[in-house]
Amino acid sequence: MKKIAIVTGGTRGIGHAIALALKADGYDVIATYHGNEEAAQKFRNETGCEALKFDVADYAACEDAVKKVEAGHGPVQILVNNAGITRDGMLHKMPKENWHDVIETNLTSCFNMCRLVVPGMRERNFGRIINISSINGQKGQFGQVNYSAAKAGILGLTRALATEVAAKGITVNAICPGYIETDMTAGMKQEVLDSIIRQIPVTRMGQPDEIAALVSFLASEKAAFITGATIAANGGQYMS
Ligand code: CAA
Repeated sequence: MKKIAIVTGGTRGIGHAIALALKADGYDVIATYHGNEEAAQKFRNETGCEALKFDVADYAACEDAVKKVEAGHGPVQILVNNAGITRDGMLHKMPKENWHDVIETNLTSCFNMCRLVVPGMRERNFGRIINISSINGQKGQFGQVNYSAAKAGILGLTRALATEVAAKGITVNAICPGYIETDMTAGMKQEVLDSIIRQIPVTRMGQPDEIAALVSFLASEKAAFITGATIAANGGQYMS
């Protein structure tokens, strides 16, 4: 029987590449999305996979969605918490909503989805949770107190949860992508982006596939001894 994988924010960008990689690995992939219907339909047509629309920041919506997946596909073995947004701006000009929205969408969403799938994973003694953090959660980024805080929070959640579930055959890891070519980075001012690319030793931005390959490995049986890890994929921009 195929293993079931949920990829939040899986119809675009890094999540899209992850969904394709896991499908190629033989998983039954369910992607989630929030707003972009066109991308979701394109994803459905291209992959034949289900794309479920809900807000990952809303616990009740996550609960409905997980129930729907379990009823339609079976128990969830792989969870990739990838959905995320930016609301960049310096702290002294940041509206409170921009703090709240980023924390809820990028961090609370990980709690929501983990809370809903972990009990089943514990019962079955198997699970793979992969949380997509960011280089900016490791180093802090000018203009991103909200995003950096949420992404750093993901690293704490990852490590704490990893200790709780390790004995149950469940691994929990975080990946910290650097600057990857997606709609998110395409939304940045070109001169700001150019100045960041000049700080990347590999001299280019990353590709979504380069993150997906790592997820594919962490989801596999081969990665059973890796848990609570923070794995950077940033072209050498930040080494810790
Ligand atoms: N360090 C120090 N000073 C900086 C700076 C930096 N990194 N960047 C800008 N400044 C300075 C500017 O030189 C400017 O100074 P002066 O007023 O003396 O000229 C001042 O700070 C204000 O800068 P801006 O004019 O850029 O301010 P703004 O309000 O127009 O824009 C901003 C602020 C939106 C935060 C903009 O700087 C920005 O877009 N920064 C990049 C944020 C970023 O990296 N986002 C990543 C998005 S992708 C992502 O998040 C994915 C991932 O995981 C990597």
